Amino acid sequence: MENTKAVLKVKNLCKSTILKNVSFSMGPGEMTAVMGPSGSGKSTLLYQVSGMDQADGGEVWIGQTQITKLSEEEKAAFRLRHIGFVFQQMNMLSNLNILDNILLPAGQRKNREKAEVYGRELMKKLSISGLEDRKISQVSGGQLQRACICRSLINHPELILADEPTGALNQKAAAEVMDTFVALNREGATILMVTHDRLVASKCQRVLYLVDGEIRGQLNLGKLEPGTEKDREERLGQWLTALAW
Ligand SMILES: Nc1ncnc2c1ncn2[C@@H]1O[C@H](COP(=O)(O)OP(=O)(O)OP(=O)(O)O)[C@@H](O)[C@H]1O
Ligand SMILES: [Mg+2]
Repeated sequence: MENTKAVLKVKNLCKSTILKNVSFSMGPGEMTAVMGPSGSGKSTLLYQVSGMDQADGGEVWIGQTQITKLSEEEKAAFRLRHIGFVFQQMNMLSNLNILDNILLPAGQRKNREKAEVYGRELMKKLSISGLEDRKISQVSGGQLQRACICRSLINHPELILADEPTGALNQKAAAEVMDTFVALNREGATILMVTHDRLVASKCQRVLYLVDGEIRGQLNLGKLEPGTEKDREERLGQWLTALAW
C-alpha cells in the first residue's frame, strides 16, 4: 500500500449501514479530530479502528499490521500493546487507587516495577503527582481524565484513540486535558479524537467531518503554532457552518 509510514490507514471501511466506505490515514505525530452529528458513526469508527468490533468490509492497518485480518484473540493482544484508549466515561475501577488503575493495562508482568516507575513518571508529566494513593472519588474530573490518559500511555502505544475525552468535564478541566493532549502530540504522539467541542478540535491538525457514516469533509488546520488559536477557531467555525453543523 502507498504511504507505508502511516501509523493508521483506513481503507473503504464498512459496517452495516453505520459506516460507508470510510477512508483516511494518519502519519506519525498527527492529531486528528472527528466531528459530526450525534449518531453519525464517530464512536463506531473508533471501535472499528481498534478492532473491538468486526468490520463488514475494508481494511484497517496500524503500522504494518492489518488488524481487520486478525482473530479476536490476536486483536485483543494487539490492542493492549499498541493502542491507548481514553473515553468520556472514564472506566476507572473504584476498588483500586489512581496509580493501580494506571498500571492495570501493564498486567502482572515480571517488570511490574518498571511499569510503576513509568506510571509515576507519566503522572508527573501530566501534573497529577501526589494523587497515586487517592481513590478515584477523591480527585477532580480533570485529574481523573489525566490519570486515564496516563493509563492509555502505560504500554507505549503507537496510536491513542479518544472518544469525547473532554465531554464529561467542565471548561477548566477540559482545557487541562486538551493541553495535555497538545503536549503529548508535540512530543510525537499520534492521536485520533472524537469531539463535539470546537475549541478542542481547533487544536488538532486535521478535522474529519462524518455524516451518516461518510466522511463529508476534511479541514487541514496545520501544526498548532502559538498565537494562531483564535484564527484556527474561526476557520473551523466557518467550515462547520458551511457543513450545516
Ligand atoms: N452495536 C450497535 N448495533 C447496532 N447499531 C448501533 C450499534 N452501536 C451504534 N449503533 C448505531 O449506529 C449509529 C452510529 O452510532 P455511534 O455511536 O457511532 O454515533 P456517534 O457519532 O458516536 O454519536 P454520538 O455523537 O451521539 O456519540 C447510531 O444510529 C447508533 O444507534
Ligand atoms: Mg459517540
